[in-house]
Amino acid sequence: MAEESGELMEKLTSLCKRRGFIFQSSEIYGGIGGFWDYGPLGVQLKRNIKDAWWRDTVVKRDDIVGLDCSIIMNPSVWEASGHVAGFTDPLADCRKCKARFRADQVFFVSARDGDDVLLTAGVEADDEQAAIQAASASANSKTRRRIEQHADRLQWQAFRADRAPAGQAAKCPACGGDLTDARKFNMMFKTHVGAMEDSSSQAYLRPETAQGIFCNYRNVLDTARLKVPFGIAQIGKAFRNEINPRNYTFRSREFEQMEIEYFCNPSQADQWYAYWRQARFEWYVGLGLGSDKLRLRDHEKAELAHYSKATADIEYTFPFGVSELEGVANRTDYDLSQHQKHSGRDMAYFDDETKERFIPYVIEPSGGVDRATLAFLCEAYCQDEAPDENGLPQERIVMKLHPRLAPIKAAVFPLVKKDGMPEVARKIHQALKAAGLACFYDEKGAVGRRYRRQDEAGTPLCVTVDGQTLQDQTVTVRDRDSLDQKRILADQVVRYVADAIA
Ligand code: GAP
Repeated sequence: MAEESGELMEKLTSLCKRRGFIFQSSEIYGGIGGFWDYGPLGVQLKRNIKDAWWRDTVVKRDDIVGLDCSIIMNPSVWEASGHVAGFTDPLADCRKCKARFRADQVFFVSARDGDDVLLTAGVEADDEQAAIQAASASANSKTRRRIEQHADRLQWQAFRADRAPAGQAAKCPACGGDLTDARKFNMMFKTHVGAMEDSSSQAYLRPETAQGIFCNYRNVLDTARLKVPFGIAQIGKAFRNEINPRNYTFRSREFEQMEIEYFCNPSQADQWYAYWRQARFEWYVGLGLGSDKLRLRDHEKAELAHYSKATADIEYTFPFGVSELEGVANRTDYDLSQHQKHSGRDMAYFDDETKERFIPYVIEPSGGVDRATLAFLCEAYCQDEAPDENGLPQERIVMKLHPRLAPIKAAVFPLVKKDGMPEVARKIHQALKAAGLACFYDEKGAVGRRYRRQDEAGTPLCVTVDGQTLQDQTVTVRDRDSLDQKRILADQVVRYVADAIA
């Protein structure tokens, strides 16, 4: 299973590179950990995801407006929000090889049979059970044989590096050396504003877009003629100096968020939380994450942030495990109260119908664009068979992306490069472009190969101009998923494609 998942991830990353969805940042210089670039297909896919979110949360609603805040803000923002003091991960260094690890993701595993120590290892894993499995799987064959022989008497022990028993050092997963005690590492990227590089000019790249929204809550309320309940939505870059960026784009150091802060009367916060929890889940389902790989998980009380009354994660089963796509949280009046306290500005809202005065509660659906992109890519990746030119079944890789998200909506081919077919095909291509539909023209090579290239790009429709077109002005339209081919009039292609992707 683990091997299959690894294999799927490998196939997906190789397709993403080969077809221009995702590249390593600064690749020609050996890359840089935790940073990624989106190629021609990837940028279009990501843009379509952001457009779908913006249309569904801002354009189609009366109660949400948009905002675009600066990435660098007054550093006092991050004092008030609690990020300067608390936005930390536990960090441990290897005393020997100097590698750095997130101490909550490193485990020290040992297996002993009485006094006989069979195995000690440092491994990176998500929990104790996974750590034990990883350690026994990576043991050499002699140790594995002994583990099997002693299986029923073995005592396993696994502890997380940041919870190491006193006097016991966890081991480095890279070289087996001793790890230091865990210490707090603040994940905000620091920079300086202006010509002076001292502590007075220190600033941060925002680690979330949310604080820009809270800081503008009064501005928006006073200018947009809104009444509670209302929301402010923002899409933008966020930066976190993750100790251990991993799983492709899933945990990056630079990424994009799409966040809504929904302000409501505290007495209605539970209902609005329930509403957004469900609405956001259904948004992903509506765009194709409908399989049983998507789930909603409510946080246990112990897991809740101190300011949160309730939180649910929308999680997706990636090939590397079940992980968070988006969090929906009832953040109470914590953020606005903090900013009121630190800035001295009044954040209260006066309801002129009920004559109540209150600091609104905030329901926050906070998603990651890159994680959504990765989930849509994972869900879309399929291997099946399609007939080749001679009608023989041939394996194909096809990205079954939702038509709204597909980077290219239609490809147009002349069957052969002669007899006036390219001229007709180019005309259809131009008409699609003029209608604002992302499309692609291709006249090179066998038509079966051209279909397969579009399958890999996730293009829902391929339009082919052939000999019959010149007689009756019809073209074939081939459906990416069903492989059905039907003939329609050439001058109806634009309408047909527009309807199919709506
Ligand atoms: N304002 C709340 C907030 O920022 P979060 O759970 O820290 O909450 C929200 O982040 C979303 O941002 C996550 O669900 C995830 O989709 C995305 N995200 C967070 N850290 C990320 C990272 N290092 N790489 C990619 N996406 C990330």
